[in-house]
Amino acid sequence: MLLLHRTVVPGLRQAYRLKSAPSRLCIWACSTNDSFQPQRSSHAFSGDNSSTRGWRVMGTLLGLGAVLAYHDHRCRAAQESPRIYTREEVRSHSSPETGIWVTLGSEVFDVTEFVDLHPGGPSKLMLAAGGPLEPFWALYAVHNQSHVREILAQYKIGELSPDDKAASILKTSDPYADDPIRHPALKVNSQRPFNAEPPPELLTENYITPNPIFFTRNHLPVPNLDPDTYRLHVVGPPGGQSLCLSLDDLYQFPKHEITVTLQCAGNRRSEMTRFKEVRGLEWSAGAISTARWAGARLCDVLSQAGHHLSESEAHVCFEGLDSDPTGTAYGASIPLARAMDPEAEVLLAYEMNGQPLPRDHGFPVRVVVPGVVGARHVKWLGKVSVEPEESYSHWQRRDYKGFSPSVDWDTVDFDSAPSIQELPVQSAITQPKDGETIESGEVTVKGYAWSGGGRAVVRVDVSLDGGLTWQVAELDGEEQRARKAWAWRLWQLQAPVPAGKKELNIVCKAVDDSYNVQPDTVAPIWNLRGVLSNAWHHVHVHVAP
Ligand code: MTE
Repeated sequence: MLLLHRTVVPGLRQAYRLKSAPSRLCIWACSTNDSFQPQRSSHAFSGDNSSTRGWRVMGTLLGLGAVLAYHDHRCRAAQESPRIYTREEVRSHSSPETGIWVTLGSEVFDVTEFVDLHPGGPSKLMLAAGGPLEPFWALYAVHNQSHVREILAQYKIGELSPDDKAASILKTSDPYADDPIRHPALKVNSQRPFNAEPPPELLTENYITPNPIFFTRNHLPVPNLDPDTYRLHVVGPPGGQSLCLSLDDLYQFPKHEITVTLQCAGNRRSEMTRFKEVRGLEWSAGAISTARWAGARLCDVLSQAGHHLSESEAHVCFEGLDSDPTGTAYGASIPLARAMDPEAEVLLAYEMNGQPLPRDHGFPVRVVVPGVVGARHVKWLGKVSVEPEESYSHWQRRDYKGFSPSVDWDTVDFDSAPSIQELPVQSAITQPKDGETIESGEVTVKGYAWSGGGRAVVRVDVSLDGGLTWQVAELDGEEQRARKAWAWRLWQLQAPVPAGKKELNIVCKAVDDSYNVQPDTVAPIWNLRGVLSNAWHHVHVHVAP
């Protein structure tokens, strides 16, 4: 009963929250593929006969409120022999007034009552109203799961007519069909959209991460852009001049080259999940990589468009050319003050390690914002504008924010927190691997350390006994400039394995030049999206007898 209560009550709250959530949030929830959580229905708990109770328990266990809510509906549909509809009839049911029908394969569904319960938001489901679901399910592959099909089954009202059936099996275009081929070493967290990280044993093999194994964080299919027709739109200030830049135009600006580490806000999220559930892709410690980037400085391009620092509160807003079916492009912003500061070295990059950007990493042009969370490094850059941050209503304003551990999905107010820009100090162990058996004698521990905002890593401490005693690791890799330490340090420690130990609990923690340190545990920094996960990194190994 308690279990039921615990699950059901938040479910009711969630259903209410879903109804009142702004549509941008819904777009985000659906398009990230991270946050797909079937919402429980508040209609579900009115009846009290035993069969309803049975469904209730099943629905609760499976987290399928919608199943509960439309149990009756399913019974009705099951009792009636399937009716035959033409594609034209389906098309005419595309609004709340006419009822909202969709098809999947040759089956027809009346989802009018489900629209408000759609986890990705009503507006997303309405895009498919009167037509096939396939193009949208292809984009958001998270739908292709048995429990989602089960929910849909509740709404089946019939079949398409044989003539229309043939048309419906025509291949629907797969929005990801044109995605590039990826390196097999990558550990894939989600195939569609593609999200993957290099395995720990390769991550710190080289100071500069080879392009094919640089971690990839995509929210949408990878655009296939023609470098000859590519144009970057830079909106000028009021009364000023907007620019429409070809790649050749960008090459005319002084070429600037810097080594920058990019880290996703969700790096090491899986450790937060282990403590308490969060919503997001299950990144291990590999959502971080380093490259040598080259391109035009953003400040030079903005100056040419007539921007200057007077609009000091404003943000520079970047829009990608990857967009979802509503036409909403991925976007993010940084303060104008950072963008205009030549010392901040923000780049419109067109080269990665001496090569044109790989398609997964933004070909032909992306933003590189040294010291700042990966989410702001907008790929496939299409548009740059300067706007007050509040008016820039992108998905980003509904994500990439940190909250207290006490905030949950019922109480979160995304407007109450600033967007994540600079990241906190971070380090992780890449060798040995968790669970590995090491030889007795000597152990070599390797890893990376990095801090946001250009703060240099000044020390990495390593413990072989869970944090009781510490040794200082040797820092490798490029020395970093003061206040411009954009790239990581690799580090290593060679130490005797303490005699008689069968297991080691190896821990690392870094210190940056502001003497920021990493927290020792996840608990005090846990947050519902699992971002900013930078507690001491632990690796448990066995010692060979
Ligand atoms: N830019 C666009 N246009 N679309 C995206 O999905 N993902 C962002 C950022 N820029 C993204 C984007 C996120 S969350 C991260 S962490 C970085 O790209 C990852 O860059 P990478 O894939 O080159 O590692």
